[in-house]
Amino acid sequence: MEKIVIQGGQPLSGSISASGAKNAVLPIIAASIVGSGTSVIKNVPHLDDVTTMNELLIQMGVKLTVNDTTNVEICADNIDNPSAPYETVKTMRASILVLGPLLTKYGKAEVSLPGGCAIGARPVDIHLKGLEAMGAKIRVENGYIIAKSERLQGCQFYMDKVTVTGTENLLIAATLAEGETLLENCATEPEVIDLTRYLINMGAKIEGIGTSVLRITGVESLQGCEHTVIPDRIEVGTFLVAAAATGGEITIKKANPYDLESVLIKLRQAGAEISTTDDSISLKMHGKRPNPVNINTAPHPAFPTDMQAQFCTLNAIASGYSIVTENLFENRFMHINELVRMGADITVANKQAIINGVKHLNGAPTTATDLRASASLVIAGLVAKGITEIFDIHYIDRGYEVIEEKLNQLGAKIKRVTI
Ligand code: EPZ
Repeated sequence: MEKIVIQGGQPLSGSISASGAKNAVLPIIAASIVGSGTSVIKNVPHLDDVTTMNELLIQMGVKLTVNDTTNVEICADNIDNPSAPYETVKTMRASILVLGPLLTKYGKAEVSLPGGCAIGARPVDIHLKGLEAMGAKIRVENGYIIAKSERLQGCQFYMDKVTVTGTENLLIAATLAEGETLLENCATEPEVIDLTRYLINMGAKIEGIGTSVLRITGVESLQGCEHTVIPDRIEVGTFLVAAAATGGEITIKKANPYDLESVLIKLRQAGAEISTTDDSISLKMHGKRPNPVNINTAPHPAFPTDMQAQFCTLNAIASGYSIVTENLFENRFMHINELVRMGADITVANKQAIINGVKHLNGAPTTATDLRASASLVIAGLVAKGITEIFDIHYIDRGYEVIEEKLNQLGAKIKRVTI
């Protein structure tokens, strides 16, 4: 077991590089299943979730090797066990992303139903309805999705909600289906675009990249290829908020500012001076206390729910009142209780957090509850007076590559301690 210990009060300064995007590399590794031959995925971050996805494919019979730390070589020609067991799925919901690829390439799949998680019920009904619309026969038995199909058939399918992994599952499934598929109300997150680019490079015929309507013409086969994963915009956003909260000045290299426009707008409203190039973002806060900013989460290109917890921490020390509204997940305010224990003045009513900024937070022992909540606690520890300890830090390792090393590079007093 480990904990993170932070001595607060150091403004962040210096520069770091962004890692590859967790929420792009997970669907891309799953999608490699539909390719014949070998794919080489580059700029793969070292994250627990990536390790879990790799292990999931290996137990299916995929030949997968991680070479020179950031490249994964995958050959999925000999899958003999098209399944995703409960033990794996319960640790990582994104395992559901192998359902579409297995079904469209092998005509069968047994995938454990991902249960809910800390932030909400996280249903997958849209994934299943879409695959059934393509002709799959799906039943749920003993907690498993049992899916079978002859070759999937192209169809027109409207997704009742904008779902990132739902869009990704159905998009991958459609690439090898017979005929044309029209997917409507698609997610347009940069991670969906990166997956689409990978599929097109494998030979898929997809029109409408980056829009909410994707038109896919099924092909007979796809070829493995090389693909470099985009930078992780949520990791970048998290470090920018940490710099703004500590009144510091940082530059993040290998970052794409166009993927984070809604977050940069809010950081500017909070008083940060931001400059960008095509592949870097610089933020200066000049030691100022942040202005309060109201936040409304919604699908891309609106403000991302994965940045909500981090902005609650920024608002917790801002010079006034703010309201943060979480519109996607029904239980994504669990970081609030921990922030209140550190001296924040926040009230949660339904899907809103009403935040009255205080001059400073006080260090305290805290517990992480989910990935982005743990990031908000790290930021709180960086700004708090005194020492903050964060327990259950396995959540943070799922989505942030060596977070304490990168923060140390920026002057933070943070360390990981075995307990
Ligand atoms: C993806 O989750 C991300 N995960 C999440 O990031 C992110 O918070 C979320 O998209 C929203 O941007 C990955 O990409 C691996 P959704 P996903 O399906 O696809 C409802 C992180 O911290 N819904 O877009 O599971 C659902 O309940 C993680 O990196 C249905 O009703 O989220 C939610 O209200 C957390 N039925 C809304 O749609 C379905 O079949 C959006 O969920 C599917 C979704």
